[in-house]
Amino acid sequence: MKKIGSQVTIAIDGPAGSGKSTVARRVAETLGLLYLDSGAMYRAVTVLAIQNELAADSPELIEQVKACHIEFADNGKTILLNTKNVSVQIRTPAVNRFVADVAKIPEIRHEIVKHQQRIGAEGSIIAEGRDLTTIVFPDADFKFYLDASVTERAKRRLAELQAQNVDITLAAVEAEISARDEKDKTRAHSPLRAADDAIIIDTTDKTIDEVVDFITAQISKDEGCSK
Ligand code: C5P
Repeated sequence: MKKIGSQVTIAIDGPAGSGKSTVARRVAETLGLLYLDSGAMYRAVTVLAIQNELAADSPELIEQVKACHIEFADNGKTILLNTKNVSVQIRTPAVNRFVADVAKIPEIRHEIVKHQQRIGAEGSIIAEGRDLTTIVFPDADFKFYLDASVTERAKRRLAELQAQNVDITLAAVEAEISARDEKDKTRAHSPLRAADDAIIIDTTDKTIDEVVDFITAQISKDEGCSK
């Protein structure tokens, strides 16, 4: 494994609500890494489809994705689509419902993956999503797969939504994430799965601190060994 002082790539995959974004942001802060929220990029492309009333599998959308400019600011907290801040739009219920259909289109994935690999080449990074350990960074120095029971994941999402004053039931949130998981796990291209060499962490009964501590300990443990 590489020393954290040299360029290091940490990849995390897992289903919705498994805790990967919160954990990855925290590890990024702790270790001073670039943070890549890959789901935000698929969400931004979904905003593009909704704004232009394009079907997920339309050739026009693929052309627009090839031509569009997606960039992050504020170490991943802000996402810009063609220079416009879409950080709020990417989290709407309409995007939640549509994003997995857009993300299953191979040509769209191809464009987004290229972009992610370019970002990854810039320096040490922690990246999270559905195919970071398997497709985007198959040679990552550290790979983790986070999971949790669907009810626990739905409870976490519900708490986030309630904090934003969204009126929704636990059952509705659970149905939405189950439907999205099913699409992400069964699609033909780059389905969500745990890489053979990923460390699997069940976060159901763990706090964010416990998962962050576990991941940082794994990385520190391997510091000094050469890959
Ligand atoms: O991580 P997040 O829930 O924001 O991801 C939204 C959706 O984007 C996922 O449900 C999935 O359909 C898609 N996605 C993907 N590959 C990734 C990250 C996200 O297909 N690496």
